[in-house]
Amino acid sequence: MPGKLDRCNGWNDLSDWYDRKQGDEGDLWHRTLIDPGLLGVLGECSGKRVLDLGCGNGYLSRRLARQGADVTAVDASPRMIRNARRHGSAGVKYLRADAARLKGVPGGRFDVVFANMSLMDMADAEGAVREAARVLKKGGRLVASICHPCFDTMSNSGWVAEKAMGEPRAVYRKVRGYRELFHEKVPWNTGDGTRAYTVSYHRPLNWYARVLRSKGMAITALEEPEPTREFVDMEQQDGDLDGPGAQEVPLHLIIEAVKL
Ligand SMILES: C[S@@+](CC[C@H](N)C(=O)[O-])C[C@H]1O[C@@H](n2cnc3c(N)ncnc32)[C@H](O)[C@@H]1O
Repeated sequence: MPGKLDRCNGWNDLSDWYDRKQGDEGDLWHRTLIDPGLLGVLGECSGKRVLDLGCGNGYLSRRLARQGADVTAVDASPRMIRNARRHGSAGVKYLRADAARLKGVPGGRFDVVFANMSLMDMADAEGAVREAARVLKKGGRLVASICHPCFDTMSNSGWVAEKAMGEPRAVYRKVRGYRELFHEKVPWNTGDGTRAYTVSYHRPLNWYARVLRSKGMAITALEEPEPTREFVDMEQQDGDLDGPGAQEVPLHLIIEAVKL
């Protein structure tokens, strides 16, 4: 386990920056790459009871609530929850809690639990899946977007650009250490010259399948979000290989599992 970090693995200290970054629509990566895929799998949530696990500043919770969902948004970071509340509730109930210990949340209550880019930041993701299964109704769904466990293994993965006559030719993804369970400090550049760190956990794909199965959940969909034109163009403008690369190799995975 990492050393002395808060319960949300460093996110509390980054809450204000993250709130500005996500705003009301989500940052470029969320808005143009991850969220369209996640929302597509979530489908129509109007009239449904929805739980957002690791909600961050809560922009997606508020969006679903505006569309008529009854949303509870949970985050372990007190500051994330404080900032989320500052945006106005828009019908969302906020709760500061560890996703692996949802005290006071009754079992069998929700139609949908979603976790947008948060499971791999949770030290006890198995506990979070267990709690998601507990609070879901029978037939309810857990939908989670994560860094693609096969292709984005943090510093164990990266792009390799092939050039011919000095011109870009092909982009490859290199991966090592896939089978290992490990955690790593993730650096964030907060724009004011300081570097801050969170901790993320790599778990191979079969870890997710086994954990879901062991909690009585069956995988019903796997989606690999394709980048929008806007994402590719913006990344290319910055000279970043994520744009052209992600057109060929997915960086994210969306898992839907149903409570049996
Ligand atoms: C990458 S952020 C994603 C936030 C939000 N879902 C989004 O997409 O903008 C990960 C979030 O997970 C939260 N988190 C980390 N560990 C947690 C835990 N054990 N229980 C609940 N939330 C946790 C962090 O505080 C942070 O807000």
